[in-house]
Amino acid sequence: MELRTTIQAIRQARAALGTVGFVPTMGFLHEGHLSLVRQARAENDAVIVSIFVNPIQFGSAEDLSTYPRALERDVALLQQEGVACVFAPDVAELYPEGFVTQMSLGGVAAALEGTSRPGHFAGVAMVLTKLFNIIQPQRAYFGQKDAQQCAVVRRLVEDVNSPVEIITAPTWREADGLAGSSRNSRLTEEDRKRAPALYRALCHARDCVRAGEHRRTVLEAAMRSVLEAEGLTDIDYAMIVNPETFHTEGEIIPPHALALLAVRLGAVRLIDNMPLL
Ligand code: PAJ
Repeated sequence: MELRTTIQAIRQARAALGTVGFVPTMGFLHEGHLSLVRQARAENDAVIVSIFVNPIQFGSAEDLSTYPRALERDVALLQQEGVACVFAPDVAELYPEGFVTQMSLGGVAAALEGTSRPGHFAGVAMVLTKLFNIIQPQRAYFGQKDAQQCAVVRRLVEDVNSPVEIITAPTWREADGLAGSSRNSRLTEEDRKRAPALYRALCHARDCVRAGEHRRTVLEAAMRSVLEAEGLTDIDYAMIVNPETFHTEGEIIPPHALALLAVRLGAVRLIDNMPLL
């Protein structure tokens, strides 16, 4: 496996590969990332993984500076997974002096994470546009865990006529239901025990729907009560949306509704989601 840090070097390495499945990441890899890598391996001649903590998608300098990193460990893991190439540029390689272009997103990017983290999806869209142009993969893999990000990326490739096929892979969870996330490592021991309440709240909403409850306000309140019973009261949002638009439309939820949560546990903000079918 090759580790490349410059655009020129990764372009050279990519040219020697056939169909490429691309898995963009910010590193500190866990089983969730590796599940994307495994799917990409099964569906392409070769896999390229990028590891880049993209500064322009972070709102506060603090969140960026405390984002966990472990490049050596990540590279060793990816080697074991049979990845052809890792692209790990530094910030100046992707955003050299003189870089001025910005993106502006509406629609699916506006609500939820778009409201809680202004500029976040514009930063995600920019780095992915650059990475897709540099690597020119056939397919790119994204986790359902970040459902709104998946919707934003699908819209992006459609809008700019990118030929990259976007694949959404299922959320990988710990045995207690907590969705895998690099941020989980920053939870205190006590908050780690509370964190599976996000999954339980989503399951509860799904069970209520299966039992015939379709009122948005009732379902959203049901999720909140599961979180609050666990002492999780710093809730950014607990919402049910139409997964095509990410809008809340009417009091009766649509047939393929998606429940989404964002909750703060101390300094750590966790997100999760579940289709309510
Ligand atoms: P990062 O948070 O490192 O996630 C990289 C990819 O792994 C994303 O597609 C994310 O949805 C997926 N992923 C994370 N946890 C997962 C889980 N538990 N199960 C399945 N997939 C999971 O998302 C980003 O990085 C960045 O925004 C990026 C797309 C790389 C742009 O900078």
